[in-house]
Amino acid sequence: MDIRQIEEQLRGLREEALSSLEKVEQNRLLDDWRVQYLGKKSPLTQVSRQMGALAAEDRPVLGGLVNQVRDELQRAFEQAKNQLEERAMEARFAAESVDVTLPGRPRRRGAMHPLTRIIQEIEDVFLGMGFEIAEGPEIETDRYNFEMLNVPKDHPARDMQDTFYLTDELLLRTQTSPMQVRTMERMWPEVPVKVIVPGRVYRRDEDDATHSHAFNQIEGLVVDEGIRMSDLKGTLEAFAKAVFGPHQAVRLRPSFFPFTEPSAEVDVRCIACDGAGCRICKHTGWIEILGAGMVHPKVLDGAGYDSTRYSGFAFGMGPERIAMLKYGIEDIRQLYQNDLRLLRQFSRIL
Ligand code: DAH
Repeated sequence: MDIRQIEEQLRGLREEALSSLEKVEQNRLLDDWRVQYLGKKSPLTQVSRQMGALAAEDRPVLGGLVNQVRDELQRAFEQAKNQLEERAMEARFAAESVDVTLPGRPRRRGAMHPLTRIIQEIEDVFLGMGFEIAEGPEIETDRYNFEMLNVPKDHPARDMQDTFYLTDELLLRTQTSPMQVRTMERMWPEVPVKVIVPGRVYRRDEDDATHSHAFNQIEGLVVDEGIRMSDLKGTLEAFAKAVFGPHQAVRLRPSFFPFTEPSAEVDVRCIACDGAGCRICKHTGWIEILGAGMVHPKVLDGAGYDSTRYSGFAFGMGPERIAMLKYGIEDIRQLYQNDLRLLRQFSRIL
């Protein structure tokens, strides 16, 4: 065997191996390449096996050549492997990279329901004036809802409130006023009594734009020695300013409620026109927002507070009406329908 021939073979082998290596693009195939060109059964190994057929002086020459080619292929292999790994890493970095210039996904903010919101706002105003908050039963007795409030069984004032009766004695409360009596009974003989009572009430009314068979009231009650009508007016004026604005004023008109004497209906300056006169206030410049009065002596005495020593004022308001005025909602039913188009507006306003 001629060493020239083998040298020729080796050169061809080297070229083939290197050009085949250039085409390898995946790590897995790189291992195949190594087995093929550097493995035990590779042509290179086979060439070195031909050593025995050579003249003695040619053998080290061939050994050197084979080693040279093997080293070169080995280095080329390492280099290709490094390159592939580097490229894979770069691809992974590119895939994992975060584009910090990408605009965020907006999250919608929740909003308090306008009715909940106004009730809490009113509660806060009265808490700030030293009132406590109490709650009472929605299923009430005829005695607390009517009789203790100076409305006897055959009294014509019962016609003012169409009642859902459950039995002869039990009913769905038509007003939060029974909590006046319950609160006084609970607190007697302590003074001052200073409480507000938010809660749901029920009436046998047809639902329309201004009526609902189930709605809310907030009752207020103050009892102490020397409580006067001017205390009532001052308290309500502070309330009106806090909820509707510092320029507000209240106006009391004589009215009738069986459990107060004297009784009044209370107006604030029209929220829509600021008193100038408009459709909302029927061109009077004033809007009625609540009923009030001095607690009737019969109610005080019935609940334990001696009316010759103590006096008090009470008021009752409808938070639905106040929310509608404040937020310009024209139909009370919108407060119960939970239409997201309405409710979402309150995440911006509030
Ligand atoms: N309870 C009355 C109603 O539902 C409202 C009311 C009026 C409450 C005068 C009061 C008051 O405490 O003093 O129509």
